[in-house]
Amino acid sequence: MEHQGRSVVVTGAGRGIGAETAKRFAAAGARVVVADIDGPAAQKTAAGIDGALAVEVDVTSRDGLRDMVATVTSEFGGIDVLINNAMSCSEAAFLEQSPDDVRRDFAVTVMGPYFACQEVIPGMVERGGGVIVNVSSVNASSYFGNPSYSAAKAGLESLTKTIAVEFGAAGIRCNAVAPGSIATEYWEVRKAVDPQIFEKVARWYPLGRVGRPDDVADALLFLASDAAAWITGVVLPVDGGILAGNLAMTRDITAKSGHNGES
Ligand SMILES: NC(=O)c1ccc[n+]([C@@H]2O[C@H](COP(=O)([O-])OP(=O)(O)OC[C@H]3O[C@@H](n4cnc5c(N)ncnc54)[C@H](O)[C@@H]3O)[C@@H](O)[C@H]2O)c1
Repeated sequence: MEHQGRSVVVTGAGRGIGAETAKRFAAAGARVVVADIDGPAAQKTAAGIDGALAVEVDVTSRDGLRDMVATVTSEFGGIDVLINNAMSCSEAAFLEQSPDDVRRDFAVTVMGPYFACQEVIPGMVERGGGVIVNVSSVNASSYFGNPSYSAAKAGLESLTKTIAVEFGAAGIRCNAVAPGSIATEYWEVRKAVDPQIFEKVARWYPLGRVGRPDDVADALLFLASDAAAWITGVVLPVDGGILAGNLAMTRDITAKSGHNGES
């Protein structure tokens, strides 16, 4: 996908999907901003990308986001593409979550993108348009654990539609991707408990493997590109087919075990 000369901000780009996305936008010709609450991680990602700008920002802070927009506008002239990728995900069980666990997940995962849109959109309107892509999750539409994160991601998908409808006439498109399980550093804690976790999880995916950061990055580059010029307000699953259905369950329901429903 061609993104020559575009100015692209990726939040949570210090590692994982965000870092891979920043690299791929740069490879497609964009000037990228690696934004992360973890300043050294942002610097490290940016150091590997020609011309990238590292910005330490907490997306829960509207003032911090305002400063980031001012910095990017003075360095790159404005923002063409915003990728809302940063998140927080409490691993505690529903009844054990503290108010702070719940608040943090909502603050980073949905309020962060909300505030980022509020800060970035006026400049996009002034420049005649722009693109926002939100990184949601399959957890927004089906329960796979992490209750407050899931509820926040559902809110993020609602925000996606709001922006698409409110600002379409201003030339702004807004879409989301909903990844399934993606092998990133985030999973290290779970992998420490169960080293075989990716192999176990892979069997639930129709495509037979968990995702990679580049699977999501490619979808983000597509939705941000002119090839998606008439696509707005949608959520694209990037999930190896997990939201499409569950074959093990289907076999139980149909009392059949074979390929294509054959016994
Ligand atoms: N990895 C998966 O299995 C998976 C599945 C579905 C959706 N996703 C989504 O993909 C996105 C990236 O996931 P990942 O696995 O790469 O995550 P990750 O935990 O590896 O990276 C997240 C990054 O966000 C940064 N961050 C956290 N709080 C922040 C804040 N307040 N302000 C700015 N930056 C902040 C972190 O420092 C980190 O660099 C997230 O939106 C996540 O919900 C991931």
